[in-house]
Amino acid sequence: MKLLIDDANLADIKRLYDLYPIDGVTTNPSILAKTGSDPAAVLREIRAFIGPDALLFAQALALTAEGMVADAHRILEICGKSTIVKIPSIPEGFKAIRMLRAEGIATCGTVVYTPMQAFLAAKAGASYVAPYVNRIDNMGYDGVKVVKEIQDILTNNHMDCMVLAASFKNSQQVLELCAYGVGSATAAPAVIDALVKNPAIDAAVQDFVHDFEKATGKAAMTEF
Ligand code: E4P
Repeated sequence: MKLLIDDANLADIKRLYDLYPIDGVTTNPSILAKTGSDPAAVLREIRAFIGPDALLFAQALALTAEGMVADAHRILEICGKSTIVKIPSIPEGFKAIRMLRAEGIATCGTVVYTPMQAFLAAKAGASYVAPYVNRIDNMGYDGVKVVKEIQDILTNNHMDCMVLAASFKNSQQVLELCAYGVGSATAAPAVIDALVKNPAIDAAVQDFVHDFEKATGKAAMTEF
């Protein structure tokens, strides 16, 4: 499973890239607005840091297919041709995905709350579909189950489209989808940190250091 950062804060992105095997960055208009900076400048900085070939997702804002296509062109101008354009999985979005596919521009059908949205976005030619796990949970449904159903639909219909599971609130949601083999997941920095946050792990690591120091009087292998 590919693991991406769902955030636009460059300091957080740099910290997480330094520590974890990260595959890319996803943004949406709310995430970009939260930075308080010029969205184009933020996207350029992220692209410059992660490199020209790393996965970067940015979302179209328009509500008509033609507007979404225009947004997509602007997004590619700002952050490079390899950028994947997120298009809301609504009827105008399916049209835009088809138009962009014809131009060879990669898209992600986003704002996916139902399996049928994902199916139609994939059928229209999206390279990714992004179901919102936690938001689905908050509506009283089972977000993880919906994502598994979407993964099955893509697999059983032999569709050339990958799940990009999104909107996580906890590491358990990510773990369940990782075990199921979904293609990719994007999570906020706090959720990524929580994937391995465990006092037992920290205590075990500290115990090794203490045991070694107690027996040898030294705290590092490099002292030998
Ligand atoms: C990704 O495509 C979504 O924009 C994002 O993950 C939504 O996350 P949220 O529900 O935490 O806002």
